Amino acid sequence: MNHTYAQYVESKPEDNPLNHWQNGGVVVIPTETVYGLAADATNDQAVAKIYALKDRPRFNPLIAHVSDAAMAMRYVQWNAQAQRLATAFWPGPLTLVLPLLPQAGISSLATDGGDTLGVRVPAHDLTRNLIGAFGKPLVAPSANKSGRISPTCADHVRAEFAGACPLVIDGGACTVGIESTVLDVSGGQPLLLRPGAVTKEMIEEVLHIEVHLFSEMNKGAQLKSPGLLARHYAPATPLRLNATNVEDGEALLAFGADILVGATHVFNLSESGNVEEAASRLFHALRLLDGCGASCIAVMQLPETGIGAAIADRLRRASVAA
Ligand code: TXA
Ligand code: MG
Repeated sequence: MNHTYAQYVESKPEDNPLNHWQNGGVVVIPTETVYGLAADATNDQAVAKIYALKDRPRFNPLIAHVSDAAMAMRYVQWNAQAQRLATAFWPGPLTLVLPLLPQAGISSLATDGGDTLGVRVPAHDLTRNLIGAFGKPLVAPSANKSGRISPTCADHVRAEFAGACPLVIDGGACTVGIESTVLDVSGGQPLLLRPGAVTKEMIEEVLHIEVHLFSEMNKGAQLKSPGLLARHYAPATPLRLNATNVEDGEALLAFGADILVGATHVFNLSESGNVEEAASRLFHALRLLDGCGASCIAVMQLPETGIGAAIADRLRRASVAA
């Protein structure tokens, strides 16, 4: 059931997210991108619970979710690029990696001991109001087991953590549906670590300088953002990308009005050929097709313009053999 902000904060202690966070607990929050497993970013034990729930490798740092830029500035070394980007895109699906203010109290487990912190203001009113009321950042990775598909509605989360699910704030289906763009603006030369709905072109237009893709700059180099691990966001069923036919026993992830025939099951990401709609339905589609018993999921080609670049990135990772 969907509750309002007032209903959450006035509810019994066990249903009040603020109470959970104050006591070092984990609560699942809705955002415009995907659902997140959220805990007090300044509490080591609370952050440790997130890693345990996700079975996440310790080397993957977490994003701190803040209510506004003013809260971000209490924890990171702000700069002119960050200011421009925050003005243009916050609240919204853009995470800014900035130098951590070491005395600000962020748990070193959240940054994996690093000297930077990813911060973002989610475009979800209920969640932003709760963070504002809590008064401190919440670290929140996507609310899935490590390496699995990110959840875009409350039911996905409940299914993933079946027996041991934390309190879930049901904020409806995620409107964007793909994780935030991660941009390192800690060192003058902006580096795109993970593509998302805020595209490279949109960032370049605001900053008036060229943005480099981390993957191009550092082929084979040390992993700066483990979200860039080759295999990630993966269903158990293999994917076959840019399919131009459907083979025996395959399911089809389709796009557009003119789709391939012969599949056991079909999910069309957008019949009208709209990439934003396709992004918002992608993870739900992968979950459904993964559960239908097909030997493989054939994926039709999608345009790589706009958020299409982020869709292509997620599909590429999902198709890497386990
Ligand atoms: O849309 C999102 O960003 C969602 C929602 C819940 O906000 N969160 C999310 O978190 O996708 P997570 O933990 O699944 O992915 C965070 C990504 C990882 O690839 C991580 O390596 C990268 O951001 N990251 C976080 N902090 C970083 C830092 N200080 N330096 C480099 N990369 C960082
Ligand atoms: Mg994730």
